[in-house]
Amino acid sequence: MAEKTANAMWGGRFASGPDAIMEAINASIGFDQRLAAQDIAGSRAHAAMLAAVGILTDSDAQAIREGLLTVLSEIEAGRFQFSTALEDIHMNVESRLGELIGEPAKRLHTARSRNDQVAVDFRLWVRDQCDAADGALAALQRALLGQAEAGADWVMPGFTHLQSAQPVTWGHHMMAYVEMLNRDRGRFADARRRMNESPLGAAALAGTSFPIDRAMTARELGFDRPMANSLDAVSDRDFALEFLGAASICAMHLSRLAEELVIWSTAQFRFVRLSDRFSTGSSIMPQKRNPDAAELVRAKTGRVFGASVALLTIMKGLPLAYSKDMQEDKEQVFDAADSLMLALAATTGMMEDLQASPERMRAAAGAGFATATDLADWLVRAKGMPFREAHHVTGALVAKAEAKGGDLPDLSLPEMQEIHGGITEDVFAVLGVDNSVRSRISYGGTSPVRVREQIARWTELLG
Ligand code: ARG
Repeated sequence: MAEKTANAMWGGRFASGPDAIMEAINASIGFDQRLAAQDIAGSRAHAAMLAAVGILTDSDAQAIREGLLTVLSEIEAGRFQFSTALEDIHMNVESRLGELIGEPAKRLHTARSRNDQVAVDFRLWVRDQCDAADGALAALQRALLGQAEAGADWVMPGFTHLQSAQPVTWGHHMMAYVEMLNRDRGRFADARRRMNESPLGAAALAGTSFPIDRAMTARELGFDRPMANSLDAVSDRDFALEFLGAASICAMHLSRLAEELVIWSTAQFRFVRLSDRFSTGSSIMPQKRNPDAAELVRAKTGRVFGASVALLTIMKGLPLAYSKDMQEDKEQVFDAADSLMLALAATTGMMEDLQASPERMRAAAGAGFATATDLADWLVRAKGMPFREAHHVTGALVAKAEAKGGDLPDLSLPEMQEIHGGITEDVFAVLGVDNSVRSRISYGGTSPVRVREQIARWTELLG
């Protein structure tokens, strides 16, 4: 059997080519072709800089920069033949450039290495994902804001331990997610700011003897500055880990909302109805409307967490600087980013279409003695009772109502007075769910007045 010939890019010292299994484990082109646009942008900046400092002639740099655009258009048009023998996106692009422009292509790799090349490509890609996540999060915030506006004063049960706790408003519940998602945006923005330094020019690990201008390539690629340590520049992947950290927390938030949608859309709750566009049927049970999108948002969270743990584990044992282990970073981050973006889009779609039922939520809001705290607060406010005592008296009233098989407002005044003689007729006003939510006017509270203030603030902020 004929031996494969040695690699054209680095095979000078090799007599034969790699084993097929070696090629299979080594090649990354199957996935890192997603970095093509970033790779070409990095190479174009590098070529311009090499010419500016006199390492390349202007005509060679010109040929390289134009040739790279041709390669990009071939890739974008799906006309590019990716080759596993050429291992990765960097060598695939460079090799094709050579076919297109000849000798100048061989000068492009002066004063750089695939180690700084992949570091710059991946940073640019992850940076784009931070921007995409920010846009998608803003869109979801707007959808939630729309829900909050429609139902700023719709009363619903508020839960702790998933047990009825106190009535809240639908608007308040929706706005809680607007706040959470804004912290997610902040985390992506922080990560972006920290990652926005250029590794290009670190070369293999030690820098280069050529008189390169790293500030120039950094500027051209939109980085704030070059990274200050070449070893760090080629071996750092904490920018990707920060992205995965922000993505994990964000996915966790989406998963909680998804879980609520699953619960709220059950026949037992019926607080919400997902639109036909975001529901599925069952092939055997004709009555079913399944919240598959919400379930999958919940499940995709696992993939995002998994990517984060995988990359932390890949990195934890690596000595400085580059090791091939780091090639395994990309599929994890690609999958996490794809999963997150899809989850964000699905959640936005569900929330834009969602029909909440004010009647169903209101009917459930008073159940489970949800206004017991209001009763205790009333005993404090109207009767001057210490809160601990009021808590105790209210507990006895709850027990009495429960024994009767009813709720607090079902007790008559004389029944209440058997527990505490000082209770008067006006107690009934605080037992209603509307009064309950209206009374919670503390800053950040669920009162429709406060909720509308927050909606106004966010409407302004989200534009
Ligand atoms: N495909 C490689 C990666 O993703 C590019 C860097 C290769 N560097 C090397 N020294 N073999 O990490």
